[in-house]
Order: sequence, then structure tokens, then C-alpha cells
Amino acid sequence: MNAVDIIVKKRDGGELSPAEIDFFIQGFTQGTIPDYQAAAWAMAVYFQGMSDAETTALTQAMAESGEQLDLHDSLPPGTVIVDKHSSGGVGDKTTLAVGPVVAACGLPVGKMSGRGLSFTGGTIDKLESITGWSPELSEAQFRRQLRAIGLVIAGQTADLAPADKALYALRDVTGTVPSLPLIASSIMSKKLAAGADAIVLDVKCGHGAFMETLKEANALAKLMVAIGTRAGRKVVALITQMEQPLGNAVGNALEVEEAIASLHGQGPADFQTLVEQVATEMLLLGTPQGTTLDADTAREQVRHAITSGAALAKFRAFVVAQGGDGALVDEPARLPHAPVQVEVPAAAAGVVQAVDSRAIGLAVVALGGGRHKKGDPIDYGVGVIVHAKVGDAVEAGTPLCTIHAASREAAHDVMEQIIGAYTVADGAREPLPIVYGRVAEAQG
Ligand code: URA
Repeated sequence: MNAVDIIVKKRDGGELSPAEIDFFIQGFTQGTIPDYQAAAWAMAVYFQGMSDAETTALTQAMAESGEQLDLHDSLPPGTVIVDKHSSGGVGDKTTLAVGPVVAACGLPVGKMSGRGLSFTGGTIDKLESITGWSPELSEAQFRRQLRAIGLVIAGQTADLAPADKALYALRDVTGTVPSLPLIASSIMSKKLAAGADAIVLDVKCGHGAFMETLKEANALAKLMVAIGTRAGRKVVALITQMEQPLGNAVGNALEVEEAIASLHGQGPADFQTLVEQVATEMLLLGTPQGTTLDADTAREQVRHAITSGAALAKFRAFVVAQGGDGALVDEPARLPHAPVQVEVPAAAAGVVQAVDSRAIGLAVVALGGGRHKKGDPIDYGVGVIVHAKVGDAVEAGTPLCTIHAASREAAHDVMEQIIGAYTVADGAREPLPIVYGRVAEAQG
């Protein structure tokens, strides 16, 4: 078996055997298959796709490429370990709020998160805008914090699904992110290796997501639910709207500030709704065997965690435990802020028909809030605050959004792109729904 034959077979539309996939993933992880061959293979998969059997084998090979965690012995007997994962969107700071809410309800959340990918942001980059906060924890620290606080968000360790870690970074810079089998295997390999008993998947759908149509998002949701079910895990996937940015803030520190607002119950309505829904699904999946919890009671618990201040206190404790400055949680206005803010006014009166989230996400990357190549530094303060969303009526001159930039020149460089992201026209437009659907068990 050799790497070139496997690349050629996939390039020509052949179906790879589990042994071939295993050989390729092991070789890539151990460094005997170099980046350029892995990139060529990823491009072949991008164009040719994979059968469900290939995707399952790829998921398994990546999950087994490193250590596999079992956190049960760090938690009270009977605890169901529930994880969540988003397929990636613009303004998606859901984990920052859902983690503390669920932990405040008594269900421990020990989570590995990723960095920004293409035009979407990443939880770890966002949290790193909090001075001192670190995603790097030893396994012993991870377990200790999970026991003590019930909330840990760490970077993917080098030992956990290392094949995905390397492939993810390579895909980000080779145009091979939006591939259904690569996304499904990437997400599910991490979740399986991290030892979750149950997983809530947030499958983003729309122009600001890797899955642009409901058909694609449904296919991804079903594929991931099927992979998880085959591996003996309980999986629920929500298919959620990503036509326009989630909430108002796009950009690392701006999103942390908005997540903190949501923990005060003061987040934008669409974001607050999604946080409640994802947290509710996690509580339902986390119900220990032999006990029952109905959706209304779970939702009540979620709301109480927010109104009582327990979720905010949990977030603060988590930030401090990972070396962050807790005072920034109390005064989020002190998080990094860009020196220049430029409003983008509506050219004419009308109703907002569309806000192209991908264009906004790419503009934030161009401002320095994301990466063009592996390892690029991030400017935490830059971003965009979206003021007008789909369905909002605006007058000529009403601010549609505000650009937060490192300089006036940088703001002007993205101005046209941001103006082009907005469609304002006559005619009523319904606000967009936040959740399109739910997939709960393997079908077909
Ligand atoms: N999130 C992941 O973890 N992997 C992908 O490939 C895309 C989104």
C-alpha cells in the first residue's frame, strides 16, 4: 500500500477500503505521509466525496489516531458525559454561553474546542481574548477542573484525534473545508475520542456555514447522527440558521462580550433562543438512567441558571481556573477593543432583506480577526457589530453595522464588502427562524 495509489484511487472516484483509510491516516499522523500528499488527498475527497462506509472508517481512524479519553472516573457515578459541537458559523459564540449554563444546572461540561476555520470563528480564539486565559491543560488539570467547577473548555490536545488536528489546519489553508465527509469525520472523531456518551450537534445551515442548503445540512446531520449511533452514543442534531450572523457581534472579544451579556439574560434574541435550545437538549441527553426530565422542566432549569446569576458565576469561575482575568467578566467593556469604529449607514430607506454572513465573516478575517494561513496572529479587538438584521425596517442613514478596526484604512478596505453584504429593499420580510429542524436518530 502506498499514499500515491490511495490518492489516485480517490481522485478517480474509487471507494477506499477501511485498511487504506487507516494506512493513510496513520501515515499522516506519524509524518510518513507529508502535508502535500494529505492536501492532495483532501482535495480528491472534496471533489469525489465518500461513501458512508468510508466516512465511518475515516472517523474511526481519526478517533483512534491518538489517546481516547474516559472521564467517568473523574465524575460522580452515573454521570452522563454530554458534549456539544457546532459545524461552524459566523458570530457563533454559543459554546461560551451554553457551557456555563449547562454546568450551572449541575451537568458537567468538559469540552475540547477548536480555532477559527476559514470565514468562521473558533471558541478557543474567542476565549483567548480574555487576558491570561489558556486552553492548554494537562489531562490531570482537565480532570481536576471538571470535578471542582464542572466546566472546562480546552484546546484539542496533541494526543486527542491528532490526525484531525493536523488535517483541520491543512484544510483551512487548502480550500478543502466544505466537504461533507471531511466535516462529519472531523467533528465526530473528536467527540468519540473525547469520550462523550451523548452529543448535541449544532449543524449550521446557510450562506455563512459550510452547509449552504437545508438538503446539505440535513445530510450532514443524518450522517453524524448515524456515525455516533453506530459508535454507541446518543446524538441529537439541531439544524440552525446561518444566513445572517448569529446575534450581533462578529469578532473575538466582541463575541465574548455578547456571550457575557447573554449570561445576564441580555443577549440578542436569536442568540439567546439558540443558547436555551442547545442547553435544553444537553440537559435532556444528560438525564441519568432511571430518571426522567421533560423538555419544559429542562428549559425552566436553563432559564433559572441565567436569571439566578449561577451561569455567569460559573463562567467567571471557569475563566479564573484557566488563568484568565475574572475582572474582565465583571467589566467586559475592558476586553480588547479596536481603536477605530466606523458606522455603515443605510443608503436608502427600506427593509433588510439579507445580511450575507459569509461576507461579514470574511471581512472580519480581513480586519485581522481570523487567519489567512496556519499560525497567523489574531487581532482580538476587531470585528463587526451588526445592528440591522433581516426583517428590520431602516431609514436612509440608519447604521446597519459598525466596523471595529485597527485603523481607518483597514475599515475602509472592508467597507465595500460590508455594504455589499446588506440587501435593503422595499417590501416586508419576515425575520429568519433560528432552528430549522432536529434529527434525533439514525435514519435509512
Ligand atoms: N468543525 C470541525 O470540527 N471540523 C470541520 O471540519 C468543520 C467544522
